[in-house]
Amino acid sequence: MFPFEFEPATIFYLFLYGATLVLHVLPMNYVLAGSTYLAGIALWELARGPSLAQRPLVELLRDWMPFALGVTITAAVAPLLFLQVLYQRPFYTANLLLFHRWMAILPVLIVAFYLLYLQKSHGWHKFAPWVRACVSTGILGCFAFVAWSWTENHLLSTRPLEVWKQVYASSDWFYHDPELMPRLAVWYVGAFPVLAAAMLWQLWWGGQFGTTTAVTIGNLAQPDHSPLAPTLRSLCILAFVGLAGSVVAGLGYFLFLDEPVRARLISSRAWPYLGVASVGLLGQAWLWRYVWKSGCVCGGTIASLAGAIVMAVGAATGLREMRRTATVDLAAYLEQHTAATKIGGIGVFLVFAVVCTGGITAVVLAVRRGLAAGNSPK
Ligand code: HEM
Repeated sequence: MFPFEFEPATIFYLFLYGATLVLHVLPMNYVLAGSTYLAGIALWELARGPSLAQRPLVELLRDWMPFALGVTITAAVAPLLFLQVLYQRPFYTANLLLFHRWMAILPVLIVAFYLLYLQKSHGWHKFAPWVRACVSTGILGCFAFVAWSWTENHLLSTRPLEVWKQVYASSDWFYHDPELMPRLAVWYVGAFPVLAAAMLWQLWWGGQFGTTTAVTIGNLAQPDHSPLAPTLRSLCILAFVGLAGSVVAGLGYFLFLDEPVRARLISSRAWPYLGVASVGLLGQAWLWRYVWKSGCVCGGTIASLAGAIVMAVGAATGLREMRRTATVDLAAYLEQHTAATKIGGIGVFLVFAVVCTGGITAVVLAVRRGLAAGNSPK
């Protein structure tokens, strides 16, 4: 079973890379799907008037997107480091070949940050609808560009030397790959169920402490006047569409892969990942159906949803590495992996890990206490 075909040093870094990449993917899904949602609403308002402006999901997203982007970027640093240990040569080569395009990620993310704060500002509703539409679609454009760049870089890094030579000789700013769009579609569509679950959790959590927009979650079975009943319905639809779309996008991407890669992804080595991914997807579908039918959201439902999402995303991360190692000879970099395990610093790392985790926990507890005591974040 993958990754046990490799030596222990390689497995060690693969595990750290995969686990930390999941931590990046979850908030990344929130910003990617969340910015799509906000851009869609802004365009709707431009065309049809401001009837949807006060919907709780929109306010929630506008409020939390800058924070979510901060978490996305911070959580991306760890997998970036492990990636460089694992795939040093292909990763750096792809970076260098895409050079200006690749470096553009940084200014684009800075612009996205500013636009997100503009979107969250108190004066937001005073802007003309076309300005709001430009800002919200601009944010989506920034995130789509970054996601596309990561996929482009990833694919270029998996290609053989001949392709790198061609890209270098062509001096092109863009790398065209038949896998690019189908692969990006998998990431994009798969972001929506994660966004739906995250917002469900936020509303539930807010309701617990009487903050944000949550009042009570309305019962869908008995339509009432709770402002959150339609909201909950929207979340269920978002999740169902995202889950069905993920399956379609995943199968579509599979068809674009070369035959040896396909064979690897359906070989018995991949079965555990395929099994866990299926359980994760079906588990989410079942839980959303339960929420839809009962209108009931409790901590248990949300914890189970989180578990199912981690299963699906974690298994997808494993399959993603199986796809990469089908064309990149990871075993060839064993020397670097072994050398990396011998580099010291574990003591310093552990001290900072404890100090930082303690600091973050203290902040979360302080905020919880403040909210429980009736303080409002507004
Ligand atoms: C909103 C901003 C971002 C978005 C939308 C985004 C999106 C993505 C996507 C779609 C992938 C998967 C690429 C693929 O497998 O085809 C990815 C992978 C990754 N991202 Fe991000 N990303 C963002 C910001 C960042 C930042 C700032 C960093 C670094 C500090 C980063 C580090 C990584 C790493 C290390 C990977 C794995 C790449 C690989 O294995 O080849 N991401 N990201």
